[in-house]
Amino acid sequence: MTAERRSRSTEAFFGRRRGKTIRPLQAGALADVLPGYQIDLDTAPPQPLAALFETPVTAVRLEIGFGGGEHLLHAARLEPASGFIGVEPFVNGMARLMLSLGEAPLANIRVYGDDATRVLDWLPSGAIDTIDLFYPDPWPKKKHWKRRFVGKANLDRFARVLRHGGRFRFASDIDTYVNWTLLHCRAHGAFEWLASAADDWREPYPDWPGTRYEAKALREGRHPAYLTFARKHDAG
Ligand SMILES: C[S@@+](CC[C@H](N)C(=O)[O-])C[C@H]1O[C@@H](n2cnc3c(N)ncnc32)[C@H](O)[C@@H]1O
Repeated sequence: MTAERRSRSTEAFFGRRRGKTIRPLQAGALADVLPGYQIDLDTAPPQPLAALFETPVTAVRLEIGFGGGEHLLHAARLEPASGFIGVEPFVNGMARLMLSLGEAPLANIRVYGDDATRVLDWLPSGAIDTIDLFYPDPWPKKKHWKRRFVGKANLDRFARVLRHGGRFRFASDIDTYVNWTLLHCRAHGAFEWLASAADDWREPYPDWPGTRYEAKALREGRHPAYLTFARKHDAG
């Protein structure tokens, strides 16, 4: 399928939806635990968006492509007063998170198991405090760069849903993708890169737990960059 002919629900998703096996325990967690955490995009978002969560929250954060959920779980435990929306189309990743939530439930997490562009288009304007995009699929070959999640269309989506002053965080071990993101954010105009010294992007974020994908990159000798952008106040 070419990018142009993809259906709307998979506009920005080009990866695998399933691994080789889903173990019975994981299948059980998907059947029993997922329904209690899943967002229904056919229903209008609650006003205020904080009402999406079973516990009072003062900020709503979005993590796109949470993989096995290492960061999402860690952050949700660390910040019980924030609500976390996690998006991951890879069923095995979702199953892994559901297994953890089955053992230790969290009232400040909601999830969606498909393309994050659908969630972004569902969210109210200015409702999100932070968007985390950690180790997005790198698409290193030039002919595939247009598949990268960062691009004009998705930065427009980020600019709409982020509150002014909100943050977009992007981590990657792929130099060309880091440069690509810096260039796209600069060209877009609604984002300011918050780095004044090299340590600001070479050092992991505060309270960073690491992720499975990052561990692999480090084992293979690649050096991640941790970018943070602020949604500008004066840019539309
Ligand atoms: C390289 S993995 C990194 C996973 C995790 N963030 C980590 O650091 O371990 C990229 C993830 O992004 C997910 N992904 C790809 N396209 C996506 C999309 N359009 N919406 C949401 N997630 C997406 C993939 O399924 C995959 O799990």
